[in-house]
Amino acid sequence: MEVVLLPTPEDCGRVVADAVQAAVTSGLGRTGRVNVGLATGSSPLLAYRELIRRHRDEGLSFAGVQAFLLDEYVGLPAGHPESYREVIRRELTDAVGLDPAVVHGPDGSAADPLAAALRYEEQLVTAGPIAVQVLGIGANGHLGFNEPGSSLASRTRVKTLTEQTRSDNARFFGGDVEAVPRHVLTQGLGTILRAGHLVLVATGEAKAAALAAAVEGPLSASCPASVLQLHPHVTVVVDESAGSQLERADHHRYVLAHKLADQGW
Ligand code: F6R
Repeated sequence: MEVVLLPTPEDCGRVVADAVQAAVTSGLGRTGRVNVGLATGSSPLLAYRELIRRHRDEGLSFAGVQAFLLDEYVGLPAGHPESYREVIRRELTDAVGLDPAVVHGPDGSAADPLAAALRYEEQLVTAGPIAVQVLGIGANGHLGFNEPGSSLASRTRVKTLTEQTRSDNARFFGGDVEAVPRHVLTQGLGTILRAGHLVLVATGEAKAAALAAAVEGPLSASCPASVLQLHPHVTVVVDESAGSQLERADHHRYVLAHKLADQGW
């Protein structure tokens, strides 16, 4: 696992964009097709803005990309502005020319969410591996919407959000906790582990404890993001605030300062 400690959230956005760009261009170069996994929430927004800028100003092409969302609220009607499918359309995929037909997510408006979860897991298996998966982390250590206690081997399924996550996300619903759905569909931790490269981005003091537990704590379902420790290719991109509780911060800075020129992310 590489931990990249950077001065500002904008720096973090650029590194995450680099990692996505590397997977997209190498995948498209090899086969003309590539699967990219996308998180929603605030953490990846600067990376998405940077990808949009590169698409607009530098000709970064997304033709041949299929995008797959990590999770979705259960019960929001299709087209609801806070459904993750709408959020990603607004924040990234429209602006980089990805047709909604190649942007996939679990169907949170399905009459049978349990069946919708199984369908999405099958769709991910059929589509083949995700080359790069962008991730955020919850203040309680959740990954996707795998709340503490989630099986480290879990697959896509329905989960119940903790009250902490509902209140953290109330800001997207005009501050109204009651408007935040109680249930979600989320890729499981085992599902996420199948991606080729996991890129987790976290900024701000509120993530510091969860981030330290995920990176330096024991592998435990109590901190779902600690499952990253099992994956062979993980890049954790954090600003100084989110990294402020890392005991090995100095070592991470040292590694970054001495990175080989062609080492990549
Ligand atoms: C979103 C997701 C969540 C968020 C996490 C952090 O698709 O899977 O795990 O990444 O809740 O949210 P923000 O970035 O809003 O702090």
